[in-house]
Amino acid sequence: MRIYLDHHATTPVDPQVLSAMLPYFTEQFGNPSSRQHVFGQEAAQAVAEGRAHVAALVGAQPEEIVFTSGATESDNLAIRGAARSLAPRGRHVVTTAIEHPAVLEPCRTLEREGFEVTRVEVGPDGVVDPARVAAALRVDTVLVSVMAANNEIGTIQPVEEIGALCRGRSVVFHCDAVQALGRVPVDVAAWNVDLMSLSAHKMYGPKGVGALYVRRDRKPRLRLQPQAEGGGQEKGARSGTLNVPGIVGFGEAARLGAQAIASGEPQRLRALRDRLFEGLRKHIDGVELNGAAEPRLPGNLHVSIERAEAETLILSLGGSIALSSGAACAESEGKGSHVLRAIGLPDERVYTALRFGLGRYNDAAEVDTVVEALAEAVKTARSRWQPASS
Ligand SMILES: Cc1ncc(COP(=O)(O)O)c(C=O)c1O
Repeated sequence: MRIYLDHHATTPVDPQVLSAMLPYFTEQFGNPSSRQHVFGQEAAQAVAEGRAHVAALVGAQPEEIVFTSGATESDNLAIRGAARSLAPRGRHVVTTAIEHPAVLEPCRTLEREGFEVTRVEVGPDGVVDPARVAAALRVDTVLVSVMAANNEIGTIQPVEEIGALCRGRSVVFHCDAVQALGRVPVDVAAWNVDLMSLSAHKMYGPKGVGALYVRRDRKPRLRLQPQAEGGGQEKGARSGTLNVPGIVGFGEAARLGAQAIASGEPQRLRALRDRLFEGLRKHIDGVELNGAAEPRLPGNLHVSIERAEAETLILSLGGSIALSSGAACAESEGKGSHVLRAIGLPDERVYTALRFGLGRYNDAAEVDTVVEALAEAVKTARSRWQPASS
């Protein structure tokens, strides 16, 4: 028995995505920059199609998509690339306390370069208050970065309002939309974003490929300082031979993601998630939800289970049920999740926190099995509980 409930960490590649990719490793292996021969032309055509699918999923124009090696690179290119090129106008950046390290770390780098960064605090609901973002804006603010949905507690952020705010003040708005993409509708126009980070492997595409959306109709035109210089691919924003199979896979994953949203997959996941929460609450006492119930990603459940240390719990499941204690990322530095700290959870809630991420191939039988297994594991974890250990 193996049950995968860790879809915020990564997702399996959809078989249709894999079969779309395979020819681009072997027969159609050309370099898309080699325009003089058919090998290169076929690869360039495949990249163009992939670009169009990714753009369509977020309501962008294909020429607004810059392919990267993943969202970590996209976040770095957006934050360092925009802030450095906007530095003559101002050196203040606004972000939030619950961003992914791929946003927080480049912000730290900017601080070392003399920028000031305001990290907007977030309340127990895990939802950024646009009024706090507004209050953080200064005359020298050049960039705001707020994620679309949190990768731990799944809370969906009011990006539309924050985007409108930034637009009104002519501040560049970057949004890390990795966890929202393919799960809920994402629309660069409605959200007023100027820059948006995307990743394929969180939406049934391959690892190692992502994109940065860069708005083209912004005035003055947004120019990013490239982080990788070389052959000038991606209009100079990101040099390096394009990952053609990856881009083809990303495109196919985007096409399937749009179909999944249209065909009711979010509703199916929400029902499964609710079944999981109800099952846990029925069979285990002391189950507390972390962050607001809504707005939240349909496949996300994040709870703390009283007197059951998450690490012990996960270990006693024997590795066959994939869950996350949500405290593994480097940003946490052994102090427990920075996101859970930011929303004000006490030690006990942080160290007993479990993240469930449901996905395309999960079903009700799996959810019921997990509830049963966890109810047993909680008994073991509680027998070993030492409040001092937290
Ligand atoms: C919100 C968020 N941003 C960025 C990333 C990094 O994405 P990638 O693995 O494509 O570099 C992740 C993945 O962990 C994420 O959840």
